[in-house]
Amino acid sequence: HRQLLGIEGLAVPDILYLLDCAEREYNGSHELGRKRDTLRGRTQINLFFESSTRTQSSFELAGKRLGADVMNMSVPTSSVQKGETLVDTAITLNAMKTDLLVVRHRAAGAAALLAQKVECAVINAGDGAHEHPTQALLDALTIRHHKGRIEGLTIAICGDILHSRVARSNVTLFNKLGARVRLVAPSTLMPPAADKLGAELYTRMEDGLKDCDIVMMLRLQRERMRQSYVPSRREYFHFFGLDHAKLAYAKPDALIMHPGPMNRGIEIDSGVADDARSVIQEQVEMGVAVRMAVLQALAENLSHR
Ligand code: CP
Repeated sequence: HRQLLGIEGLAVPDILYLLDCAEREYNGSHELGRKRDTLRGRTQINLFFESSTRTQSSFELAGKRLGADVMNMSVPTSSVQKGETLVDTAITLNAMKTDLLVVRHRAAGAAALLAQKVECAVINAGDGAHEHPTQALLDALTIRHHKGRIEGLTIAICGDILHSRVARSNVTLFNKLGARVRLVAPSTLMPPAADKLGAELYTRMEDGLKDCDIVMMLRLQRERMRQSYVPSRREYFHFFGLDHAKLAYAKPDALIMHPGPMNRGIEIDSGVADDARSVIQEQVEMGVAVRMAVLQALAENLSHR
């Protein structure tokens, strides 16, 4: 592969290869501070048109730990503000002999479009409500680390499924690896063709969480809500917020997950977020290892320019 645009385009052996590489990085993470030279001489640019804490900083750390020259493009002070298009911005960065371009954009398909226009490797760091492949890989790695497998697990993904690229990438990945996936959301926040995603659909948390191994909560993406129904915070928390009473429907050893950013008291009770079964901070830690694995895998396929 020259690009990582989505989980959809990855075969199961590709996914397992990346998870195994990331697991080695994670297991050797006591050495993570030691800089390596795998990507020495390579230039990585992080081009984020949407805000990010976890993804951008972990791509930056991952690239730096592998010895790449990493630049975070500041979109608010770039010529995008003067009307330069996404494609022209990427072509300009490509002309500076960039090797790896990490892109986040509000439009679905943005990374795929750039991949057709530039010679460098393009990594999708989130494109609208479409895909967020490295998030799905780090979620799978976290689950595998705790449960030893993905196959045969029942995984409930709950909340604003309609606007979630994380949900889309995760449903695809978990299905490829043989898990049973449930989507739990109010009907107004379930995608119109959700029945074709390969998941069981639920509109009540108590039903969707029953005996599941993993509970993954998602934030309400108010910034993407236009026509659709925007629930009140109180009402939403009452019916769809993960509190201890709803969590009791899942298996006693169920893992609590959240890709972040979290809105405590809306989709998740603060005590549940900090519960002993919560692996939310470990997901963040896995993110660096997964991004190191992805950068290395793509760099291996780059011709020297
Ligand atoms: N999970 C995730 O993508 O977080 P950020 O938006 O902070 O990168």
